[in-house]
Amino acid sequence: MIGIGIIGTGGISHAHADGYIQLPDRAEILAVADIDYDRAKSVANQWGVKHAFSDYQEMLKLDQIGAISVCTYTKAHAQPSIDALNAGKHVLVEKPMAATAAEGIQMAKASRKNNRILMVGMKWRFMPEVLATKAFIENSKLGDIYYAEAIGWQHRGIPGQSFIRKETAGGGAFMDNGVYTLDTALYLMNHPKPVAVTGSSANIFGHFADGEWDPEQFNVEDFGTALIRFEEGMTLFFAHSWAINFREQWQIRIAGNHGSAEIYPFSDPKLRLMHGGYNDLTEFTPEDLPEGSIDISYEIKQFVNAIENKLASPIPADTFLYTNLIFDAIYQSTNLGHEVKVDTPDFS
Ligand SMILES: NC(=O)c1ccc[n+]([C@@H]2O[C@H](COP(=O)([O-])OP(=O)(O)OC[C@H]3O[C@@H](n4cnc5c(N)ncnc54)[C@H](O)[C@@H]3O)[C@@H](O)[C@H]2O)c1
Repeated sequence: MIGIGIIGTGGISHAHADGYIQLPDRAEILAVADIDYDRAKSVANQWGVKHAFSDYQEMLKLDQIGAISVCTYTKAHAQPSIDALNAGKHVLVEKPMAATAAEGIQMAKASRKNNRILMVGMKWRFMPEVLATKAFIENSKLGDIYYAEAIGWQHRGIPGQSFIRKETAGGGAFMDNGVYTLDTALYLMNHPKPVAVTGSSANIFGHFADGEWDPEQFNVEDFGTALIRFEEGMTLFFAHSWAINFREQWQIRIAGNHGSAEIYPFSDPKLRLMHGGYNDLTEFTPEDLPEGSIDISYEIKQFVNAIENKLASPIPADTFLYTNLIFDAIYQSTNLGHEVKVDTPDFS
């Protein structure tokens, strides 16, 4: 039985708790912590959890706790994760991994140093269409991949509270929801090393009093585009908006010289796989999609399973970090007005 602690008891912590509660013989939530103690106490009562703390360090002293879900807002992902890893706990941290690449590197290093799992809670990695595409690519159906697109046009998706402030979220639309398409594309491309980024991010709607948000508080991007170059010569076009005057459209498309894969997570059909030559490109429809789910309870099951069976992290931090390297580079490129170089850390 794995003792679980949850740090941060806001919106998404409830999905984590549900996931653990669905595994009554394998995991038990023993404690929660939130700087808002009343909130921690209230969810502890709701979930029947014995301990509630305002300082997560107190929780990390409990030997019975073997694993931690970090459900704080993004700017507070790094320190609790590092402290938990240093205390010998396995960590499942919510997406995006960190607010900056520098923080992400410290997290990945703490995981290596302590030989503890650091898993990033990117639920789309378990989407059946993503798994089917990964298998299609691993079967060499795309040939050499040379281009990808990661696009999320939300029509009216500006979130509230901690998401619109750099001080809590670290960044805006890119880091909140752009991370889903960006990570999926990088995963399907098998994580080529990014070497240069030209990007532009902007606050188009946020600085107007035109919705539920407070424009005085809103200091992150709600729109942005970027072109990412990789070591192997591939390119990726990445764009995301919380609010654009287009109809809602999300897509991850990967092009190779012998085929392509297109995933439309919120449209029908969700998946389009093509394979063949210049004159005989044909659509390939998988008979059955692989088992998987974007429910957070599924992700929790993978985390618990990895701990029980001493497996590697199901979503490892070392390569997930590339999303943070790219976000940093986009913000830098926006400020400088030109392309910037990206250095990937060497963990060897
Ligand atoms: N996977 C998903 O589907 C999904 C959905 C929503 C949010 N998220 C991610 O989950 C994270 C949290 O989002 P949310 O909507 O729950 O945010 P939220 O603002 O509702 O909750 C965050 C909580 O963290 C607490 N907190 C902040 N710093 C802390 C610290 N040092 N110690 C203890 N508690 C601390 C806050 O008091 C708050 O209660 C974000 O990174 C977000 O991107 C993921």
